[in-house]
Amino acid sequence: MKALEGVKILDFTHVQSGPTCTQLLAWFGADVIKVERPGVGDATRGQLRDIPDVDSLYFTMLNHNKRSITLNTKDETGKEVLERLVKECDILVENFAPGALDRMGFGWDRIQELNPRMIMASVKGFGPGPYEDCKVYENVAQCTGGSASTTGFLDGPPTVTGAQIGDSGTGVHLALGIVTALYQREQTGRGQKVLAAMQDGVLNLCRVKLRDQQRLEHGPLNEYSQAGQGIPFGEATPRAGNDSGGGQPGWIVKCKGWETDPNAYVYFITQAAVWGSVCDVIGKPEWKEDPDYAKPPARLDKIAHIFDTIEAWTKTKTKFEVMDICNPLDIPCGPILSMKELAEEPSLRETGTIVEVDHPERGKYLTVGCPVKLSDSEVEVTRSPLLGEHTVEVLSDVLGYTGESLERIIASGAVGEIKAEAAE
Ligand code: COA
Repeated sequence: MKALEGVKILDFTHVQSGPTCTQLLAWFGADVIKVERPGVGDATRGQLRDIPDVDSLYFTMLNHNKRSITLNTKDETGKEVLERLVKECDILVENFAPGALDRMGFGWDRIQELNPRMIMASVKGFGPGPYEDCKVYENVAQCTGGSASTTGFLDGPPTVTGAQIGDSGTGVHLALGIVTALYQREQTGRGQKVLAAMQDGVLNLCRVKLRDQQRLEHGPLNEYSQAGQGIPFGEATPRAGNDSGGGQPGWIVKCKGWETDPNAYVYFITQAAVWGSVCDVIGKPEWKEDPDYAKPPARLDKIAHIFDTIEAWTKTKTKFEVMDICNPLDIPCGPILSMKELAEEPSLRETGTIVEVDHPERGKYLTVGCPVKLSDSEVEVTRSPLLGEHTVEVLSDVLGYTGESLERIIASGAVGEIKAEAAE
């Protein structure tokens, strides 16, 4: 049995944020029924395609373990089917632009009228306030949630990150809100609204930067390398390059092969507890006793020189050799792994974090499996559905339309074109 077995989700999500959330819930065992516009579907099916006329990796990698039904929810018969779905499901998840669900006639009041136990979960760009009506994409959230202003180098522009903290990050927040509401429903019998705003999700992930904003009122942020370099702080938390966010100085340094390999680097942390080992490894044992280097406060104005010295050593080793030497000494460090290296890493295949999936139209492809492992709820990643692949199955098995009633729904055109073999 799976953790969320028996939970039915009416999945109105599209693009990345919402689908990330419902994919996680599907992996935990929920029956996720993705509702898509007939003939069109989730816009990402056709975006960034690598193979003509085949669902893109953008879509397939965010929609595993789901069923797909096509339904025109603006059509009268479509609305009838949607009402049945609302009554039948436990959770509705959506990330439409603000107001779209109300315009469809399925706002919170109507949903509660149809099914008081329904949990209605939404991703929006912003919470209530001046920007609540805006459409929002990943980088807008990174910029408005505090990530871009604190990412990049001090002398460069604000920078967005490769990690999709606005979309996927908010989807993960929403999933937590949903299971929490589900738990509360066990006690109250009532559903509730769950909102995860992308700005809020990004800000939550940038929590330490708001910490630093307040610390600034009491003096310079000494662990930022700009402090050691004597560069004055302004009014807001600055961009800190590759400084570590914690109290232990860290930086990215070059390794053997950096001249040709853009990822021949390692993140190296000069943790105070292992300073002696760091000095021995980089060939500076005299720094252990030298009052200019022995204690962390004395080192602060020499951080740049210390990392230059560390780099002179790491440049003689590959990033994996650095890891092999430093790990047994408890010196925290991490090789910069490329996507190619991650895709080929055997241990990630073994744990199911990287999974190979077979798709009837595209063949085999790699995806990121479930990043959270439950010992009593195993995850088997299955391919994403083709557009409308489960329309007839959901209409009959979940909603009980059979015979003439099923024919009426199909004939109305509300569920789009049904492939002959599926209708039989
Ligand atoms: N049948 C009929 N109509 C449908 C439908 C269906 N099955 N599914 C969707 N639609 C309609 C919606 O009702 C809406 O119509 P309306 O504008 O007339 O009310 C329309 O399709 C488009 O929905 P919308 O959400 O506005 O799509 P968009 O492509 O214009 O905007 C986003 C995309 C992502 C910008 C927007 O959805 C958004 O801001 N979402 C919230 C934040 C978010 O999640 N952003 C990150 C995405 S990764």
